[in-house]
Amino acid sequence: MTNKTYQLLNPETGDKATLPLRVPTLGPSVVDIGGLYSDQGIFTYDPGFAATAACESKITYIDGDEGVLLYRGYPVEQLAEHSSFVEVAYLLLYGSLPSADELSSFERSLRMHTMLHESLLRFFNGFHYNAHPMAMVSGVVASMSAFYHDTMNLKNPKHIDIFAHRIIAKLPTIAAAAYKHSLGQPFMYPQNHLDYCSNMLHMFFAVPAEEYEINPVAARALDLLFILHADHEQNCSTSTVRLAGSSGTNPYSAIAAGISALWGPAHGGANEAVLTMLNQIGSIDNIEKFVAKAKDKSDPFRLMGFGHRVYKNFDPRAKLIRKMCHEVLAELGDQNDPMFELALRLEEVALKDDYFVEKKLYPNVDFYSGIIYRALGIPVSMFTVMFAIARTVGWVAHWSEMNADPGGRIGRPRQLYTGPGLRDYQPVDMR
Ligand code: CMC
Repeated sequence: MTNKTYQLLNPETGDKATLPLRVPTLGPSVVDIGGLYSDQGIFTYDPGFAATAACESKITYIDGDEGVLLYRGYPVEQLAEHSSFVEVAYLLLYGSLPSADELSSFERSLRMHTMLHESLLRFFNGFHYNAHPMAMVSGVVASMSAFYHDTMNLKNPKHIDIFAHRIIAKLPTIAAAAYKHSLGQPFMYPQNHLDYCSNMLHMFFAVPAEEYEINPVAARALDLLFILHADHEQNCSTSTVRLAGSSGTNPYSAIAAGISALWGPAHGGANEAVLTMLNQIGSIDNIEKFVAKAKDKSDPFRLMGFGHRVYKNFDPRAKLIRKMCHEVLAELGDQNDPMFELALRLEEVALKDDYFVEKKLYPNVDFYSGIIYRALGIPVSMFTVMFAIARTVGWVAHWSEMNADPGGRIGRPRQLYTGPGLRDYQPVDMR
């Protein structure tokens, strides 16, 4: 809090409200309107939270105009080049980069928690084989709340660590179980000598009848994608986790709520929607037609993977993933993937188009991630699950920050009511 203030004039009464201005480490100042209703009797209106900071946070910073993304102050580009997903997870959870000892003990703890309770594993048999994996994953994560009553004192830091490590460690196992269930293949138990992403590839692609060799290029690509997806400050799913968690609900349920929010095509579901769209476009010859559809206001079609609420410049994650696409496709021998060619051409056309230029619609993180997942052999229906595995780290970091906030209050937005005024009930024979 500073001495700076902001004044609001009520034109009807001439009253002035003097509101405290809070100055962040980086980014625009924030007018604290917490006392506005009690002092002035008015609410603010900001559907979609376009200009509203819903909380204070020390985790992630985005400058949407400059295309900057920092995790705990570190540029995501540096982390993508030098770090690993597990190290980034530690950074997001605990606020600083780990020492060698801290990192190895964190890794050890994650390895300790990779297995699922056998009863939880049996839940998958209750799902139809063609259930969407996001439905299975959100259901099973919500069910974790029924398994760990013994470590659910939300004020005990040890319990919170166990929750955090447990859910981060188990998400790949749950995702792999959902995938294997959809294939009708036997579930592959985790192999704890493998690193986080190699273990995930093993659980996804190995079968008991064959030896499975992990491709280090695939494991590294996955690790990079997970770093880039690990957190993104107060996005829709993270805000959902915070809001659900603010009631003091079981944290596994709060994470399950985040998974549900992520599923939508305007959010994490966009990576699946991009591939569906590229298939629909089919060939470079059809690009102009689909770009015209995206600009037509009477047509609900949008260019999936384009646009972002915060980035009004290139999404820095998209830049890194675009580069990674070239490398991964070259390494995995898929260099001439027609889907990648189509995506590059679509990007070129849209970036030159006045509509996309004026509205500052650039490719976002999801535009290219699906192309890499596809090259790794991950089916389209699993793309959003991949996003959920990585974002679980961000959700847990934000949930923990919210849970530790001594001034934390239940999230409870107000509304602009425009329904009927007061009216009397009429018995049915008088209506
Ligand atoms: N194609 C065509 N027009 C678009 C697009 C698009 N992809 N995105 C935005 N617009 C237009 C929109 O119609 C609106 O036009 P107008 O001002 O004439 O009404 C203008 O651009 C602003 O769009 P908005 O919907 O008001 O912006 P928003 O901040 O509410 O929504 C968004 C952001 C990401 C939901 C939206 O850009 C979108 O639907 N994009 C496609 C889905 C997508 O790629 N989502 C992934 C986001 S990044 C990963 C993540 O967050 O999980």
